[in-house]
Amino acid sequence: MSQSILLSFQANISVHQDLEASFILHSSNLKLDLSHLSAGLKKAIATLQGEGATDEELANLVTQIDGSPNLPQLYYYLQQFIRYGLICHTIRVDRESLATLVPITTSSPWEWAEIEPDKKYKLSRFAYCHREGRQMIWESPLSQMIVSLKDWRCTAIMHQLVQAKTCNALTKIPNVSKQIAQAFLSLLKTAQLLEEIDNNSAESETDTLAQWEFHDLLFHSRSRSGRHSHTVGKSYRFLGKIKPLPAIKPQVSSNVISLYKPDLEKLKQEDLPFTLILESRKSLRVHGDRPISQREVGEFLYRVARLRKVFFRPYMECSTRPYPSGGASYELELYLAINICKGIFPGIYHYCPQNHLLEQISPQNDYLKALLINAQKNNGEDCLPQVLIIITARFARVSWAYESIAYSLILKHVGVLYQTMYLVATAMNLAPCALGTGNPNLFATATGIDYYAESSVGEFILGKQ
Ligand SMILES: Cc1cc2nc3c(=O)[nH]c(=O)nc-3n(C[C@H](O)[C@H](O)[C@H](O)COP(=O)(O)O)c2cc1C
Repeated sequence: MSQSILLSFQANISVHQDLEASFILHSSNLKLDLSHLSAGLKKAIATLQGEGATDEELANLVTQIDGSPNLPQLYYYLQQFIRYGLICHTIRVDRESLATLVPITTSSPWEWAEIEPDKKYKLSRFAYCHREGRQMIWESPLSQMIVSLKDWRCTAIMHQLVQAKTCNALTKIPNVSKQIAQAFLSLLKTAQLLEEIDNNSAESETDTLAQWEFHDLLFHSRSRSGRHSHTVGKSYRFLGKIKPLPAIKPQVSSNVISLYKPDLEKLKQEDLPFTLILESRKSLRVHGDRPISQREVGEFLYRVARLRKVFFRPYMECSTRPYPSGGASYELELYLAINICKGIFPGIYHYCPQNHLLEQISPQNDYLKALLINAQKNNGEDCLPQVLIIITARFARVSWAYESIAYSLILKHVGVLYQTMYLVATAMNLAPCALGTGNPNLFATATGIDYYAESSVGEFILGKQ
């Protein structure tokens, strides 16, 4: 049985050459002019496109065309390409490709991991598999490489690796030789998709890693730069394909309640000093017998979340409001689940920040009760909140413009809005408390709003002490 490793360029890299002897490597963020290289080196480098070749095959090409003095240059260029994450490695046994290791960063130097025949290995709990285009990809937030499977035997091995196995144990799979198992495990270990079982210790993870949940680490690594090759930030990838959402959500109901508008000039003169508000702010979870009033709800919403003005930035409509928002996206909407409020009937309402009014979505019903009970459970107190403010996000306001970071940006906006709510409530002598969990599924059922278009991403309770 013969085993080899094919080197090939990443799919996004192409070689442009013409009769003038110009020879340029291209990708979306790379342009490398290698026109000065010898004919043998150019031939070897051009061979890295498509299927690729082993380093022995590449060396033969250079020797045949240029002679052996150019071999050190070949190895130098291969090393540099690998170092800058341009090269994929495909393991091949008996001329059959099993799997390809694809770097996703211009990362630190790496080496093939050794597999010990008597050691047991199992799949890392951070490893996951998904379809990307026409490929089945395995990746992990621990890794700076992804693995693309080419052969069904690799899928069978992955399946077996949910339990710790030695290489020998994997040869029970039909047509899997020890050599195949060893080569594939080495690739998986290099990509940090494998855990090595230490017979002397029950724990294979450090305490630090043990405290990361799979979804948290994946979200962290994918929504920040450094551990993936996706675009990060404003890319407007849907420009010309999908219309951006308007800055203001269209009115949801004609059954509306106009709200009180406070005199901001007067407040600027008479409000409590900023430091007093900041220092006396605290979470107050228990609401007393006196209900919050329509006037207070109006003042609170006006000071926290009203729309100041709409303006146009290239490609999309934006707005300004009292709290900050990345890209002036203002994707967050406020819904009030009113249990008790002087002047407003219990029910579920949407706050219209443009006209400063409440639009009724539903009167008192079992869904309202379920939302309030859910909030009560989360604040650990014995009484239902007077008002539960449910914050939703019209996701596409952010994901239309931003790539990789859309959801994390939305959660940052929720934090910013929470603090604005806390400070305004404190200034108004109201009882505020943010909540850490909520149920977007229940909210979707209660309001009939499409979960994928606009879901709840935060909750806040408000009332009078
Ligand atoms: C994002 C966030 C989520 C929170 N979630 C809850 C919650 O679910 N239940 C609760 O009773 N308090 C919750 N709180 C309030 C915190 O418990 C509170 O801010 C913290 O104990 C500090 O107390 P202080 O706000 O009175 O200074 C949350 C606060 C924030 C900022």
